[in-house]
Amino acid sequence: MTKQIKSKERVSDHGEVFTAEREVNAMLDLVKQETDRVDSRFLEPACGDGNFVTEILRRKLEAAKKRAIPPRKKKPLPLEFEKQSVIAIASIYGVDLLNDNVITCRNRLFDIWNAEYEAICKGEISEECREAVRFILSRNIVCGNALTLMCVDDEQNDTDMPIVFSEWTIPFNDTRIQRKDYSFEELMRGANIEDDIRRTAQMSLFADEKGEVEPSFLQQYIFDYRRSQDYGR
Ligand SMILES: C[S@@+](CC[C@H](N)C(=O)[O-])C[C@H]1O[C@@H](n2cnc3c(N)ncnc32)[C@H](O)[C@@H]1O
Repeated sequence: MTKQIKSKERVSDHGEVFTAEREVNAMLDLVKQETDRVDSRFLEPACGDGNFVTEILRRKLEAAKKRAIPPRKKKPLPLEFEKQSVIAIASIYGVDLLNDNVITCRNRLFDIWNAEYEAICKGEISEECREAVRFILSRNIVCGNALTLMCVDDEQNDTDMPIVFSEWTIPFNDTRIQRKDYSFEELMRGANIEDDIRRTAQMSLFADEKGEVEPSFLQQYIFDYRRSQDYGR
């Protein structure tokens, strides 16, 4: 857990005050049914250096371990845990205005994922999978302005690049992962926020679960998280 305040300037310029661990856990407990699911999606539009998203990942990795245990066994199967852990990390999204926060947030998430990966997968560890997870984090944790929905430069000014989020799925029951890119603006336009929140107190990030609203995507790619490749950056 990092300090709650880095400097007075950052507090006055960007409202940067990090949430303490106790409050993070109390708030996440309110949506425990989602934090304890491997594939539920979370987006934090002012994620700072990751106090909420790192705790969400810890909870999801616990769920991933349980899901990877075969019936009548006690230990998770390494390759099944690997898959579940990739699903878990790929379901967490964040935006922050400050680039140093974004980099720290990605690194904290990677380190938490990697510690569990090493502990459980041992002899099955794949450098390619680590590389794939770093790539997923580079796309999911974005340096941008969550109000204008645009990426920002090092001075926190909007660039001409819209924020784009990728939906990640593992559609073939193997190690291939599908990425579909959507602009944040399109996701917000397609989201039936009021209706979602009335029904579930949450908003769907990509396609509406009832199939009524399907935002149009920009491009799609498939890659194998156990093979070295260019990911279609
Ligand atoms: C109060 S801090 C909260 C950080 C984190 N959510 C936590 O609870 O520890 C607010 C964060 O929002 C970021 N921020 C401020 N305005 C923003 C904007 N328009 N878009 C994205 N991030 C923003 C700041 O850089 C800061 O990291």
